[in-house]
Amino acid sequence: MNFFETQHLTKAFGGLIAVNDVSFQVVKGEIHGLIGPNGSGKTTVFNLINGYYPITSGKILFEGHELNGLPTWKICKLGIGRTFQVVKPLRRMTVLENVMCSAFNLTTRRDVAKEKSLEVLEFCELSKKQDFQAKGLTIGDRKRLEIARALATGPRLLLLDETMAGLTPQEQAEGVKLIRKIRDAGITIIIVEHIMQVIMNICDRILCINYGQEIAGGTPAEVANNQAVIEAYLGKE
Ligand SMILES: Nc1ncnc2c1ncn2[C@@H]1O[C@H](COP(=O)(O)OP(=O)(O)O)[C@@H](O)[C@H]1O
Ligand SMILES: [Mg+2]
Repeated sequence: MNFFETQHLTKAFGGLIAVNDVSFQVVKGEIHGLIGPNGSGKTTVFNLINGYYPITSGKILFEGHELNGLPTWKICKLGIGRTFQVVKPLRRMTVLENVMCSAFNLTTRRDVAKEKSLEVLEFCELSKKQDFQAKGLTIGDRKRLEIARALATGPRLLLLDETMAGLTPQEQAEGVKLIRKIRDAGITIIIVEHIMQVIMNICDRILCINYGQEIAGGTPAEVANNQAVIEAYLGKE
């Protein structure tokens, strides 16, 4: 049994095939990259995995469970957490309260949710800001809070959608450290990221898609040297 896999995953929006027959496997414990030019279908793949959109055809299997047709909250309870490309914290709530909302995925007890959330904030190095209103955070801290909210749901598989976009090089380096720390804590990661330096440096394996279709897969070095990948990013000239 594979830890996670998609089989012929396909999503059509009317006549537009946003994800077209994508099959890939993720090994437990790895950081698996998903790359491709803008509009290639990366976020849609995440939206299918966590049940945000229904699948047009194909299958998604997590620890042997077929996810097709399950609502988002059940997929979250099964152990898949995600971040959103456009972060939307609960603006008037504090950082701690934001994380607690996620921790209620694991428990109905307020004290248990709070304890778990404090642990996650410590892990994400956000403890000092736990009482700040979310709307007052810098973009770097908002992205970190987005990761903390996903972690508080208790995932075994975490989907990260462009958590480094808009960050300074210093914040990116800290982001890379945090992602490695998450993996070292035993959480498997699928990461969508545009910053090639980050993705090539952090991933064990990478899948590249273009117009919703797989064009290459393999180690970072294999993908970086693949002609189809180079053309998708830079054009044929
Ligand atoms: N809800 C939707 N309705 C219609 N088209 C969509 C929807 N979501 C995404 N798309 C289209 O699907 C394609 C892939 O989008 P997306 O998955 O967001 O790409 P990426 O994350 O790789 O930039 C794009 O052409 C986009 O316009
Ligand atoms: Mg996207």
